[in-house]
Amino acid sequence: MARRRQIYEGKAKILYEGPEPGTLIQYFKDDATAFNAQKRGTINGKGVINNRISEHIFTALQTIGVPTHFIRRVNMREQLIRQVEIIPIEVVVRNVAAGSLSKRLGIEEGTQLPRTIIEYYYKDDALGDPMIADEHIACFGWATQEEMNDIADMAIRVNDFLSGMFAAIGIRLVDFKLEFGRVYDGDYARVILADEISPDGCRLWDAKTNNKLDKDRFRQDLGGVEEAYQEVARRLGLLQPDEDFAVLDLDEHRKKRGK
Ligand code: TMP
Repeated sequence: MARRRQIYEGKAKILYEGPEPGTLIQYFKDDATAFNAQKRGTINGKGVINNRISEHIFTALQTIGVPTHFIRRVNMREQLIRQVEIIPIEVVVRNVAAGSLSKRLGIEEGTQLPRTIIEYYYKDDALGDPMIADEHIACFGWATQEEMNDIADMAIRVNDFLSGMFAAIGIRLVDFKLEFGRVYDGDYARVILADEISPDGCRLWDAKTNNKLDKDRFRQDLGGVEEAYQEVARRLGLLQPDEDFAVLDLDEHRKKRGK
């Protein structure tokens, strides 16, 4: 197969040119970073699991009418997506105090919030993704007011849907991060959900034990990182109880053997 043109490499994913104009291939790596890439590591099989989990969630969101960039999964580590113009804003939705909210405001981790909070961060690694307000978004033209209304509406719908989906499998959706992008229909721009939804960008706690089943295990050196990602996939019905990474990573093994 001809070498594909790489469009972009991020910390956890690579984007390649897709088979048709307006499409891309999104490749999920096992690389993990935290604290703006000051901490780096590998979570074995993460790319495979995140590809599956994100496929599952984006497909489900599409069935309730949330537009996304997802078209279809093509193999263990890759999915076909629509090319979008990424809006440089990370949208964080919080149901329970944790992470930077607890740190910044001194609210004990695990405190149920009386209402859902949406926060915005400017997507700029060099600046360390600073928190921003609507005023900054309007002032610097990162998105229009109409786009921000659509984004907030979609973020709430995603939160309601995912909170229920995870509650049904004994998982508390503490918080998560979303990214959005524009697609054009002639001159008309529409905002759709982009990036991924996986344990990399969500806090997922076991509902009974409050055990962390997400990237905080890596960030905080808690151990059992691979197992946590597998557990989420298993509860979502995406991994059979006896499936492990040796099976899941067949594509990788074949590639390494040069087949
Ligand atoms: P925070 O508490 O560190 O602000 O993180 C809130 C949520 O956003 C958490 O679920 C992890 C996710 N997140 C990302 O996906 N990428 C990031 O760069 C950061 C800082 C957080």
